[in-house]
Amino acid sequence: MPASLITGWGKCLPPAVLSNADLEGLTDTSDEWITTRSGIKERRISHVETSDLAAVAARHALAAAGRGAEEIDLLLVATCTPDRLVPAAAALVQQKIGAARAAAMDLNAACSGFLYGLAVADQMIRAGSVRRALVIGAEKLHFFLDFTDRATSVLFGDGAGAVVVEASEEAGGLLAFELGADGTAAEILCIPGSGTEGEPSRERRSRVQMEGPAVFRRAVEAMGDASLRVLEKAGVSLEEVDLLIPHQANLRIIEATARRLGLDGSKVMLNLADYGNTSAASIPIALAEALEQGKVRPGALVVFAAFGGGLTWAAAAYRWGARVTPLAASAASLAPVGRSGRELLEPNVLLYGKGV
Ligand code: COA
Repeated sequence: MPASLITGWGKCLPPAVLSNADLEGLTDTSDEWITTRSGIKERRISHVETSDLAAVAARHALAAAGRGAEEIDLLLVATCTPDRLVPAAAALVQQKIGAARAAAMDLNAACSGFLYGLAVADQMIRAGSVRRALVIGAEKLHFFLDFTDRATSVLFGDGAGAVVVEASEEAGGLLAFELGADGTAAEILCIPGSGTEGEPSRERRSRVQMEGPAVFRRAVEAMGDASLRVLEKAGVSLEEVDLLIPHQANLRIIEATARRLGLDGSKVMLNLADYGNTSAASIPIALAEALEQGKVRPGALVVFAAFGGGLTWAAAAYRWGARVTPLAASAASLAPVGRSGRELLEPNVLLYGKGV
């Protein structure tokens, strides 16, 4: 049975920045509160659609893998903020990058979506039905932010990350994964009004709602437990782990998870200060940056762990191959933005108002 290897990686961060100082003018908060409670300093606000972010990340991943879009059999976009419900964002990405041979679908497991997608691609590759997959995490979360709610609006940001996954006879690759969900906790992190529940209405408004402390507790538990189970399934020990790439939701959640696993801070990838919580995009963005920064060495044992709305959780144990550098680079980039992050949020402020 072939293994599945990540052969390419890429990211796309929209250029408009929203700093904690910008948020002080939008909602009743402070740089000090956001920094100490979450570790986030700034986030990106997208001027384009989710599929545009995804397409640029995908082009970078394809170049890194030395593959053309037409060589992809499966194109999977993990997102909870697709451009439209129909067609799937994956179909729009397929059109944008020219992956004409690929089956295309979206997958929504909120912030755990990328790891769910990686597991689906891995299993289809092992089953022999797919040779090459593009797995993308992409979000335009700011669309659902209400700045009268300071408990949610300061945490999230936009972006995309992508990987190419290929069948390989080499040992290693995805060793094991662990997926789970607890739908009884659905209400503690949700976007009501974003689907078909209730009656069709012109007044429909949908915004992120969250019980922060409850999500916090569950996150530490779920990420820690899933990581331990995945290591057991893979038959490797905690001591062998070279790098943990966790979902970038909150520095305190990540630190508590690392403590629970007994992992030294130097083995934990962090970039949430720059991007906030980008949901399904956070792990593939963090992976691309870990590779850029030389944090993934040939043969490294990498553990990915995530949790999110659902509540969902996921973890994966991955043995990196020999190549940690891209085969080629892509010049793909987004259309220029003429507005600041703060200016891009004007529609949200018009809809809900400001929290100050
Ligand atoms: N700025 C200033 N004050 C804020 C604030 C903000 N942005 N948000 C909340 N507060 C206030 C609260 O109103 C509360 O005030 P009170 O004590 O007067 O009632 C106080 O700060 C403490 O709030 P609390 O919610 O208990 O803080 P916390 O330490 O739990 O941190 C979160 C809040 C949201 C940062 C934290 O709970 C968290 O990260 N939860 C997980 C969220 C998450 O990761 N979601 C995504 C999952 S994928």
